[in-house]
Amino acid sequence: MGASLLIRGGTVVSPRGMERANVLIKGGKISALTTLSPGADLVIDADALLVLPGVVDPHVHFRQPGMNSEDWVSGSRAAAAGGVTTVLDMPNTSPPTTTLGRLLEKFRLVESSSPSVNYGFHFGATGSNLGELPAIGISSAAPIPTPPGQLVASVKVFMGSSTGDLLVTDIGVLRSFAQEARLISVHAEDESVIMAHASEPDHESRRPISAALTAIRKLLSVGKGGRVYVCHVTSYKEADLASPFYREATPHHLFLTSEMMRRIGAYAKVNPPLRGEQERASLWRALVEGKIDAIGSDHAPHSREAKESTSPPSGVPGVETSLPLMVDASLKGMIRLEDVVRLMSSSPARIFKIRGKGALDPGKDADITLVDPKEERRVDPDALHYKCGWTPYEGIALKGWPVATVLGGSLAYMRGEFYPVRGSAVTYEV
Ligand code: DOR
Ligand code: ZN
Ligand code: ZN
Repeated sequence: MGASLLIRGGTVVSPRGMERANVLIKGGKISALTTLSPGADLVIDADALLVLPGVVDPHVHFRQPGMNSEDWVSGSRAAAAGGVTTVLDMPNTSPPTTTLGRLLEKFRLVESSSPSVNYGFHFGATGSNLGELPAIGISSAAPIPTPPGQLVASVKVFMGSSTGDLLVTDIGVLRSFAQEARLISVHAEDESVIMAHASEPDHESRRPISAALTAIRKLLSVGKGGRVYVCHVTSYKEADLASPFYREATPHHLFLTSEMMRRIGAYAKVNPPLRGEQERASLWRALVEGKIDAIGSDHAPHSREAKESTSPPSGVPGVETSLPLMVDASLKGMIRLEDVVRLMSSSPARIFKIRGKGALDPGKDADITLVDPKEERRVDPDALHYKCGWTPYEGIALKGWPVATVLGGSLAYMRGEFYPVRGSAVTYEV
């Protein structure tokens, strides 16, 4: 923590632009961006590398407690190797994170895993746990949070059923959460529309875009801008309709289609489903037009055994490939690198009010990702760090891989090696 570090000669990327600069780190924080070459205890040569604020992935499912398709050791290593330095974990674990007691247990469990990245949690909404919000400090009706302050990034509301049994279908309950919580993150697929399509022949038509549009319309009738984060929109229509809200897109909806993935069957089953090429292209249009506010991986691994069973669960892993996919897209001219940094670091940190993250400005935490824009390789499930051992991107050639990750000023990962650095719980500005 006390040691100083100099990242020398790289190209520093921020939403504002790119500049050649040396990054000096002291006491775990960014001390200066400079063209000078001050002395430091450790120097990392970043010549020909891109220097990015570490990715803040606001949407992962690391599956503990109670599930076995990932854990915090494997998940956080995959994150660090993928250039991610902070993750926000979802509450649909077993048991789900729906009481203060279970949340505190999750804090203990994750801390005892010595995770390789920083972490925070979303709290799960049920039909009957609104009363927990003041205790976790996320009730806007209790403006002064009781120490230790806000304990979660947001309250997650599932409007349609997915993995786990979290579900809120009552509009009155939805309204209460939207009014009471500082921020709700919403799985916006409407359960009644899903039910009405239950007899359709395939997963994609059982959860049509109309399910998402209906859910977003309900949110528009109860929620306020700045207080709702719509997870994983899959098309321009959804992004446009959800304009008053924060909107997230996932790499799998940006890069994969149902047709492309037909050959891997249930491995590509995910909620909301992968769509056709037209919708995928429309999601890119939304991204480029500024109608997407953040990228979240929705890393939702399931074991091969579960995916090959007669009732395969929904979800695909993705925390380790989200940055390489987006950097590759930027090198192909599909999006500016500055916008990748905005969507993957600065905006998630700002939306969820995570203290000290998302930028390489003096005083911020020194969570940094070095990317080699020349490194080209195919996605290989054996080279990734997931416990599930598979990826929907197997065999896809990508250029621009992360080569090193710095966490709080210490090297956490470099070219296949992990260092004994442990992430800490994030805090929130309220
Ligand atoms: O496909 C999905 N998988 N969608 C979700 O909403 C949940 C996730 C999971 O936890 O498996
Ligand atoms: Zn979801
Ligand atoms: Zn999810």
